[in-house]
Amino acid sequence: MSKIKTRFICQNCGAVFARIQGQCHHCGEWNSIVEEIDTPQAVNGSAVSTGEEPVPINQIEMMDSRRIKTGIGEFDRVTGGGIVPASIILVGGTPGIGKSTLLLSVADRICRSSSQSVLYVSGEESPRQIKLRAGRMGIDSSNLLVLSEIEINRIINTMGKHKPALVIIDSIQTMMHPDIQSAPGSVAQVRECAGMLQRVSKKTGIPVIVVGHVTKSGSIAGPMVLEHIVDAVLFFEGENIRDFRILRTLKNRFGSTQEIGVFSMETAGLKEVLNPSELFLSHHSFEIPGSVVVPIIEGTRTILIEIQALVAQTGFGLPARRAAGVPVNRVSVLLAVLEKRARLLLGSSDVYINVVGGVDVDEPAVDLGIALAVTSSLRDRPMPADTCAVGEIGLGGELRGITRIEERIREAEKMGFKKILIPSVNMSDKYNELGLEVIGVDNVADAAKLLFAKKE
Ligand SMILES: Nc1ncnc2c1ncn2[C@@H]1O[C@H](COP(=O)(O)OP(=O)(O)OP(=O)(O)O)[C@@H](O)[C@H]1O
Ligand SMILES: [Mg+2]
Repeated sequence: MSKIKTRFICQNCGAVFARIQGQCHHCGEWNSIVEEIDTPQAVNGSAVSTGEEPVPINQIEMMDSRRIKTGIGEFDRVTGGGIVPASIILVGGTPGIGKSTLLLSVADRICRSSSQSVLYVSGEESPRQIKLRAGRMGIDSSNLLVLSEIEINRIINTMGKHKPALVIIDSIQTMMHPDIQSAPGSVAQVRECAGMLQRVSKKTGIPVIVVGHVTKSGSIAGPMVLEHIVDAVLFFEGENIRDFRILRTLKNRFGSTQEIGVFSMETAGLKEVLNPSELFLSHHSFEIPGSVVVPIIEGTRTILIEIQALVAQTGFGLPARRAAGVPVNRVSVLLAVLEKRARLLLGSSDVYINVVGGVDVDEPAVDLGIALAVTSSLRDRPMPADTCAVGEIGLGGELRGITRIEERIREAEKMGFKKILIPSVNMSDKYNELGLEVIGVDNVADAAKLLFAKKE
């Protein structure tokens, strides 16, 4: 067999070199040159190329395109209704967050529901170590095939031999192609291995889930092209100190990217959290000033979250403004609006905002919640325990209409709230029949007065 040649290509301008160099002569870019396999396939490298004539779209034969449902509701929702055949899903996440645990339970569910086999390839753990985790999770299926291997050709051969319903690669950074000299995890290796998996997956229809490690800056290690090659990018995140984890979609060719899945990490593996509102509010003590509950929209569902604010006298120097879970710039704007329109004196106070449970919220509908939390903390008066609030605040202090208000109101009702403050432009007669009082407010000053005015 002739030895496969490699070449070096600038990822910026496409110039080809015979050996590695730090700077590209053509475009002047630094560190943009990576090694690639010099084969006609790598050059023309399309995975879906069939070399045939174009076909009218109504004459294309449908492959069996039914999605593979895992039965793990949260995972199915995030993937857009199950795993699409012949697709590649990249699952990223910080070390130790539970990627292997999640995928092991996905593998187990598919084995059990389809009675087909699933191939779990690990380049990081030995079969015994995987067995240890499986034992803890109560997984013991003869259809779950475990392989400790890092050589990509051998993995692809095994795929061809066993024709599993799903292949899991844990992780892409440990995989290697023998003809590329650079170490596993390097740009060239990751790209080539992902490319090969993609070609095999498109040809055979076997979906592949690939684990990707995350760099310090939080992006998935390896080249950006990895994110272009795959069909969906899921991100598994959470705080190690707390036991719940959130699965988010960053990209999905076959579904919405707005969805989140919530899990809690337990000794027996990951458990789905069916009602996240309960989780995020479970430790809520309603008697604390500075705490406000807001219904937010994450994908197709509504979740109640709790926003906490602490306003404290500045000890020294400039007042501090810190925010976790909401953008700090948004908080600064809201504080300015509160000073100007609601006459709050915040100029010599530190303000700290926190979203309980480590959720990240970036929709403007939390504005009213933040403003009321700040007011509540400054006045040292708690928000009534049975009241929540939602609305976007404009620079004039006016409350602006928000989308999907009815869903938010219904979620608040479901969670036992008796009152909800919403922008008055969103008011409608149909809320009269609901089991909670819906109050429309025009601006943030009115809302604050309604809740925190001194009772004579
Ligand atoms: N005996 C146990 N009881 C409860 N939880 C455990 C136990 N052992 C491990 N865990 C949980 O499993 C997590 C590790 O899961 P896992 O190995 O799936 O993570 P990972 O994302 O694959 O990590 P890596 O990046 O190292 O591959 C730990 O952070 C811990 O929360
Ligand atoms: Mg792992």
